[in-house]
Amino acid sequence: MRPKNDRFLRALLREPVDCTPVWLMRQAGRYLPEYCETRRRAGDFLSLCKSPSLACEVTLQPLARYDLDAAILFSDILTVPDAMGLGLYFAEGEGPKFERPLREEWAIRDLQAPDPNVHLRYVMDAVAEIRRALADSVPLIGFSGSPFTLACYMVEGGGSADFRTLKTMLYDRPDLLHRILEVNAQAVTDYLNAQIECGAQAVQLFDTWGGALSAAAYNEFSLNYLQKVVQGLKKTHNGERIPCIVFTKGGGQWLEAIASIGCDAVGLDWTTDIGDARRRIGDKVALQGNFDPMALFASPDKVAAEARRIVDSFGGGSGHVFNLGHGINQFTPPENVTTLVDTVHNHSRKNSRQSS
Ligand code: CP3
Repeated sequence: MRPKNDRFLRALLREPVDCTPVWLMRQAGRYLPEYCETRRRAGDFLSLCKSPSLACEVTLQPLARYDLDAAILFSDILTVPDAMGLGLYFAEGEGPKFERPLREEWAIRDLQAPDPNVHLRYVMDAVAEIRRALADSVPLIGFSGSPFTLACYMVEGGGSADFRTLKTMLYDRPDLLHRILEVNAQAVTDYLNAQIECGAQAVQLFDTWGGALSAAAYNEFSLNYLQKVVQGLKKTHNGERIPCIVFTKGGGQWLEAIASIGCDAVGLDWTTDIGDARRRIGDKVALQGNFDPMALFASPDKVAAEARRIVDSFGGGSGHVFNLGHGINQFTPPENVTTLVDTVHNHSRKNSRQSS
């Protein structure tokens, strides 16, 4: 059964909509005081991810405040390498780190895809609990990191400004990186299919670092494995289509290639004009994006103007899911999100009247 508000699913499948649906990457997070309060109760971020009931609580928080058209599972992309035994931890103020980064040839040979129903049981339990709590009000999005973006963190052992270790491996020992990506592609496919079985109604692949590659390396090391995952995903569950969104940050110059791997929608960061993107690939896929998250720091009238500009740039008809071009910043004024969400709905409702 489709949820009561199914605009998000309809836009992804390019079916008619009454107005443009909107959700925000990282919509549950530190810019919300209620999130900070729940995180304090959990003790730390990872404990929050590993508690299905607290993960459910924070997933619902942005929906209580804003008129959003989808919920996204509260978790992190790095739970998958954690389940592979790399030992994820968050050093205060330093972002994610791994106790055992993946560098030795023997460790790469030994790497295995985890069974999501065993090693990521807490995520599956969260998905099921969130679906029950949503009671078919809006759809629930499941997600995973892309095989390549996960490999970046696994090999570097954390975030990186230049990906020196990863790129040294890519150029010197591409065989080792391919081995990691093969395992990651299997892990991500199994993980997303398990989320779908537990109730995720759409899925998104976050390829945050694909845009750091040369065009040739992007095809060989990121897009190839995104394609493997997309081709291995369950396309329907309980008779409903499960749309899949692929988001490569910095992938604007490769949109045609991304649109041809079998996904239903392509995510755009803020550097591509969404009207141009529609002319390039809008007959193949839906588009998601592409509001600069930093524009949320401007005054409400400027936030509204920028939202209208993007809605107008996409133009009439279906096939647009409004979103930010990357995750929301932790210092974002929460009241500006109200302006953003309401402007997208009101302005696009006007547009859809004009075009019908
Ligand atoms: O969108 C959502 O609301 C769902 C939750 C979600 C989180 N992380 C929660 C989170 C999602 C979809 C992610 C994805 C994620 N995680 C990505 C891909 C998208 C992107 O933003 O590029 C990446 C690269 C990560 C890895 C990660 N997790 C980093 C680099 C950090 C630290 C940076 C930061 O913003 O603090 C995290 C931590 C993290 N993941 C937080 C949240 C809410 C903040 C943790 C906290 O509460 O302290």
